[in-house]
Amino acid sequence: MAIVTQPVLCGKVGQSIDELDTPCLVVDLDIAEANISTLFSTFKGKKVAVRPHLKTAKCPEFAKLFLAAGAQGVCVSKLSEAEVMAKAGISDILITTEIAGNIKIERYLNLLAGSPDVKVVVDHIATAKALNEGARGRGVKPKVLIEINVGQDRCGIAPGEPALELAMQISKLSNLELLGVQGYEGHLQHIQDTNERKKCCEAAMAKLNSTVELIRSKGIKLTIVTTGGTGTCEFCAECSAVTEVQPGSFVFMDKAYGEAIGTKYKVALTVLATVISTPAKGRAVIDAGWKSLSIDSGPAKPADLYGVAYTPAGDEHGHLKAEEGNLPIDLGDKVKLIPSHIDTTLNLHDHYYCHRKNKIVHIWEIAGRGKVQ
Ligand SMILES: Cc1ncc(COP(=O)(O)O)c(C=O)c1O
Repeated sequence: MAIVTQPVLCGKVGQSIDELDTPCLVVDLDIAEANISTLFSTFKGKKVAVRPHLKTAKCPEFAKLFLAAGAQGVCVSKLSEAEVMAKAGISDILITTEIAGNIKIERYLNLLAGSPDVKVVVDHIATAKALNEGARGRGVKPKVLIEINVGQDRCGIAPGEPALELAMQISKLSNLELLGVQGYEGHLQHIQDTNERKKCCEAAMAKLNSTVELIRSKGIKLTIVTTGGTGTCEFCAECSAVTEVQPGSFVFMDKAYGEAIGTKYKVALTVLATVISTPAKGRAVIDAGWKSLSIDSGPAKPADLYGVAYTPAGDEHGHLKAEEGNLPIDLGDKVKLIPSHIDTTLNLHDHYYCHRKNKIVHIWEIAGRGKVQ
């Protein structure tokens, strides 16, 4: 007999966030909407479109807020995230990570049958050929963008001649549509000095620009040139070749991004936790450890407690310690923590508890949570 589990909710619409069970994710929707409006007004009247990256929010409801604000479409990192968004009725989706192997190719082609506007990046002719062969006689046409390595040294073909060679090979594959290129400078997003970040971004964009010009000079059409995260998208938009930017973190922000780029976008999401033990003066234990707050970018930061530091104390426990004196909190108190890295933190949770002025207005499922395939 199959065991069917129901999601356990931490609270109800209409309640105050103080009544939520913990740990859970709370989103100040007024701030998230203000962040969206700040981002879209930054690009209003400019030549670039905005295609926000949903690797951060992983939630169709946020995708719909982006589209309502004027987004061109959305990005996702993984095919399984694209499946979630397509199921929610979102059509223009770019998968920004390469897929490889029969299982993924087949799964992408299946998705394409119902969602013909799902695009994917490629950086090797073998994948392009596999997509081309798989699509034969199937009534679908994969839409691909070539990923160009503009300096991150992750995926992506080298700019210049290697990228041109790949574009020429792909343009001969009749079952594919070559839509454009992606050049993502993820390694620059958190450079703290703005001038330095801008300078490095301009150098990365110069590689993208010259490669686009080279490919176009051979008569190959590139409609989309997409790149840029929260820390660089404004600089990318100045590059003549770029047609769209793909920031993601701006909607919630996190400790690491705030330290790098400042407060243009405000913190909209925190993890709500409860003090479960006060074993010693100046030290309390909360119910949020590694399973609630990721630590790949360091520890989270208490949102409203000054002179208090958070450190994880295991899977389910976290320490709050006063720099000096007593802690301004007691057993049973709720505390808010700003995640150090939002993407990896929210992938640990099932729902967003969205509030306005502390009153819960929506509980949204993080439908892309755990969708890492
Ligand atoms: C390809 C790609 N584009 C855009 C983004 C969004 O960047 P950010 O969350 O820094 O705004 C990411 C984030 O990792 C990414 O991998």
